[in-house]
Amino acid sequence: MLEKINSLLTEISETKIKGPDELELFRLKYLSKKGLISDLFEEFRNVPSADKKEMGQKLNLLKQTANDKYNLLKSEIRVSDSGSKAEDLTRPSCPYNLGSRHPISIIRNEIISIFERIGFTVSEGPEIENDDHVFTKLNFAPEHPARDMQDTFYISRISGGDSNPGDILLRTHTSSVQVRVMQSQKPPIRTISPGRVFRNEAISARAHCIFHQVEGLYIDENVSFADLRQTLLYFAREMYGKDVKIRLRPSYFPFTEPSAEMDVSCTICGGKGCNVCKYTGWLEVLGCGMVHPAVLEACGIDSKKYTGFAFGMGIERPAMLKYQVNDLRLYFENDIRFLEQFKTAF
Ligand code: DAH
Repeated sequence: MLEKINSLLTEISETKIKGPDELELFRLKYLSKKGLISDLFEEFRNVPSADKKEMGQKLNLLKQTANDKYNLLKSEIRVSDSGSKAEDLTRPSCPYNLGSRHPISIIRNEIISIFERIGFTVSEGPEIENDDHVFTKLNFAPEHPARDMQDTFYISRISGGDSNPGDILLRTHTSSVQVRVMQSQKPPIRTISPGRVFRNEAISARAHCIFHQVEGLYIDENVSFADLRQTLLYFAREMYGKDVKIRLRPSYFPFTEPSAEMDVSCTICGGKGCNVCKYTGWLEVLGCGMVHPAVLEACGIDSKKYTGFAFGMGIERPAMLKYQVNDLRLYFENDIRFLEQFKTAF
């Protein structure tokens, strides 16, 4: 028995461990109820009484040594532990709350990326414009009702009631950017112009005095109505899904001839008829047409050599359809409870 005690003493004093798991093994091996030291205490009962004193002291020394070693190993682990998991003092004291993109920005970015894939660039123009860029160069007759104070927010007018190309106003459509692009670039031109527009409208669930549009313009030699239709079909499929159908209805805009409005099959009911499409199966999404030769000429482009198409669409409507938002005003109120719902979108 003495031999066993001595060999355990050296074994224990030489023990080295690597982590908490090995510490636990040490405890189980020597100090637990079923451990080696307990076994020796069992054996101690059979020791002849003459040897009991010496053997008892040895055994207690062994137990004490094992306990001391255990505590030493434990404290060593704690030191190395706190070394590896030291607090990172550069971490922010409270987590940053990530914001979310506005739903209008999400749809705008989606429209931009669809057209960028087929070579369109993005161009922007000022929100405070003059009559020349918003109306005159776009072939609006001087008496056209869109120029009326009831629709347009004027900042300064040159003469009382008559419109003048020098009048300063808030742009009523992003078509004004078309004019700026044509004046400053030579064909071929392929560009889209997203932006805010302003109209003097009563604010309701379906209308607002501020809203967003994306304008498109393509000018080159031999551009035809077929190119326009194909481009819009590509756009509709990317935006509303592969199975969407489009239809072009004849329409009128002063700056395009011929002009059309494009409908897509209702994204809610798939064309069967529902209250969103007012049981027609179709939703109107944009205006378009071949750029009027008078507009090309007014902007310094040779209308005998070049032709082109243009289109313009609102952003609020597709955003309302996509997110099933039934009140336009929500987009402008900055209510964080509404905006936070778009956190996961790109
Ligand atoms: N500017 C028009 C509007 O605000 C939309 C539009 C229609 C733009 C036809 C175009 C176009 O470029 O060709 O209602």
